Amino acid sequence: MPTMATPHRVSPFLEPGLRTKPGSLAVVQLSRDNFLPVYLQEHTGEHDGYIEGAVVNTRFGSFPHSTLINVPWGSQIRASKVDTGSRGRKRKRQLTENSEGATPEPATNGAKTDTAEPDDADAETALKQAVADSSGFVHILPPTPEIWTTSLPHRTQVVYTPDYSYILYRLRALPGSTLIEAGAGSGSFTHAAVRAVYNGYPGTTPRRKGKVVSFEYNEDRYHKMQEELTQHGLDGLVQLTHRNVYEGGFLVDGGRSPEAEAVFLDLPAPWEALPHLSRRRPTTDDDGTEWVSPLHPKKSVYICTFSPCIEQVTKTVSALRRLGWVDIEMVEIMNRKLHTLRDRVGLNLQVDRGVNNSARDVDEAIARLTEIEERFRENVRPSRGEDTEMAEEEGVSRTRAAPRTEEDAAAPTAKFPWQDGQLITRGEPEIKSHTSYLVFAVLPVEWSDEAEAAVAAKYPLGKEQKVVGAMDKKAKKAQRREMLEQKKGDRKSRRKERDEKLAEGAVV
Ligand SMILES: C[S@@+](CC[C@H](N)C(=O)[O-])C[C@H]1O[C@@H](n2cnc3c(N)ncnc32)[C@H](O)[C@@H]1O
Repeated sequence: MPTMATPHRVSPFLEPGLRTKPGSLAVVQLSRDNFLPVYLQEHTGEHDGYIEGAVVNTRFGSFPHSTLINVPWGSQIRASKVDTGSRGRKRKRQLTENSEGATPEPATNGAKTDTAEPDDADAETALKQAVADSSGFVHILPPTPEIWTTSLPHRTQVVYTPDYSYILYRLRALPGSTLIEAGAGSGSFTHAAVRAVYNGYPGTTPRRKGKVVSFEYNEDRYHKMQEELTQHGLDGLVQLTHRNVYEGGFLVDGGRSPEAEAVFLDLPAPWEALPHLSRRRPTTDDDGTEWVSPLHPKKSVYICTFSPCIEQVTKTVSALRRLGWVDIEMVEIMNRKLHTLRDRVGLNLQVDRGVNNSARDVDEAIARLTEIEERFRENVRPSRGEDTEMAEEEGVSRTRAAPRTEEDAAAPTAKFPWQDGQLITRGEPEIKSHTSYLVFAVLPVEWSDEAEAAVAAKYPLGKEQKVVGAMDKKAKKAQRREMLEQKKGDRKSRRKERDEKLAEGAVV
């Protein structure tokens, strides 16, 4: 869980830079799929009882923030020795000193304090330099939407990476575009969407900037999400509004159109929000007021709705059809993990992970069986003489399974076992990934009377030239004459060619 709210202008999700910074979000990776988001805090004195400042405590040891700040992203960080046991004792001592009228212990930051010479108490509480411990290590990673999706504090069901990567591709969410989203929920989709449309912070150039216009009805979730957006430096790029979109629609700033080119609805009843996503007032209850569309007036708009039940899909598709959306399609993402490994086969390999202890081939099987038979005979051998007789009678070889060829015998043992064997890929035996049905559709640009008039003025009717089926008589005649002339010319030149050839033949 993030531990501190720190505004940060340039988002570490979008431009993390090369090194970790104080005040910024970072991800501590404990193991392959175990991530811990942490807001890095510069040391400003004892924190939470630790003289090392803020500390991340994990099962791999303790990591003071001072060891996590200003290191290249991706660094491996070793645990430090942190005196976790003295926390309580220290607090208790402070309380006793204060109650006895002693001067309160000054806050220290490891640098020189304002007082001339530090007294004993100052020296005791000065920033303790972290000392490496052997308990373990972690890696420090820049935050990404994918990592955030797996580590964010869930308030709702969220959209996962396999779904949102496909959705953003189908919505044509490009840098510079504006995307409407409802509801915001836990912000999983929002983080991926803002990265897709990001092309700079507003106010840096006059160029149109990509933006996510997000709506959330639940007040607690709205406040939590707003807090996270600020902490992540995304508040200038995501405009979050607390609203029930079924009733209030998608306009912002008291009635302005966000001019969206893409819409994503993760709502229980998307069909109730769809009438607000039209190009003109969709209902008959015209109250005479001006109606503003939240959609971009000059571009086709792409929509995706995300619903877990097929009943929701049918209602959404009906509403889309009624409201003039086209290219309506439903998609279900069946995510399947593929496990690729080297399959090493052979009885002579150690019993190990990824090793199949079957015989590699017939030779190896025979050698192994012979060896087993041999051991068996040795165990039941009553006396040397008897054994020798039996062996001679049966013609059984007494040698242990030998290498099959001389080359095999000479071959050095494999240096890199992971390079051994055949590369194989296995899928999960069971696919258990239904999250939701995705409905996609497109709302083309509206063909208005003004657009019709503009085209008619540019290409006046009856004055077309060289357009099949729409030429005037004169132009048609001229074209036909041209064609005949060309044909005549072709015929003449062919005849001339033939005569010349004949003449040449006569001379020879
Ligand atoms: C499944 S969650 C969205 C999860 C989000 N897409 C994510 O990836 O984290 C659905 C959200 O829609 C919100 N919601 C439901 N009805 C709404 C409405 N009429 N207007 C705005 N938000 C609504 C809910 O409060 C809930 O937070």
